[in-house]
Amino acid sequence: MSEEVFLSPKKRGRAAVLISGRGSNFMALHDAVLKGRINAEIALVLSNKEDAPGLQAARERGLDSLFLNPKPFASKEDYDREIVDELRRRDVDLVCLAGYMKVLTPFFCREFKNRIMNIHPALLPSFPGLNVQQKAVDWGVRFSGATVHFVAVEVDMGPIILQAAVPVLQDDTADSLAARILVEEHKIYPEAVRLYFEGRLEVRGRRVFIKN
Ligand code: GRF
Repeated sequence: MSEEVFLSPKKRGRAAVLISGRGSNFMALHDAVLKGRINAEIALVLSNKEDAPGLQAARERGLDSLFLNPKPFASKEDYDREIVDELRRRDVDLVCLAGYMKVLTPFFCREFKNRIMNIHPALLPSFPGLNVQQKAVDWGVRFSGATVHFVAVEVDMGPIILQAAVPVLQDDTADSLAARILVEEHKIYPEAVRLYFEGRLEVRGRRVFIKN
């Protein structure tokens, strides 16, 4: 059986950013858009938390921003169906998860296959899940870092697009390590989205090839 191949589109795209909190990665993406480094516009910033500081920042930046309360929905899939409707209404090409603390349902992953990215503050496949900077310190690993990957149904396990490594220092705390990793996150996430809309990301099975 031949392997399924996906090539990202070369076009001026429309991206949505899903957040739950601070939103520093969303702002790094938007800054890159404003500087013309990414051939896309941010068509929507959506949060599942009403008081997410990133949502306030999106409003201040004049972006289409939406709080969607999960509580009234009967199931996780119903909630995700509503998000997918909002994305389709805005003709969104790419969904960027940026500190979005809900696990996407298989329905959402299917509807936007190869069109959802996430940023994770560790070198996957090491340390998936939560509190990963603390786990890196506790394990005594010498390097950690950040990973941008496509989202698959298995959490934090989709094809890896870009990674950046940082040293873990003897006197690091989870916070000091998180701060060092965050600097790299703000570089590699915009870079991955730039490559996406330049039509340069080719997904073959679990590997992503960067063309040209
Ligand atoms: C980042 O560390 C990101 O890697 C993780 O959640 C954090 C979000 O930070 N998924 P921010 O909201 O983008 O500032």
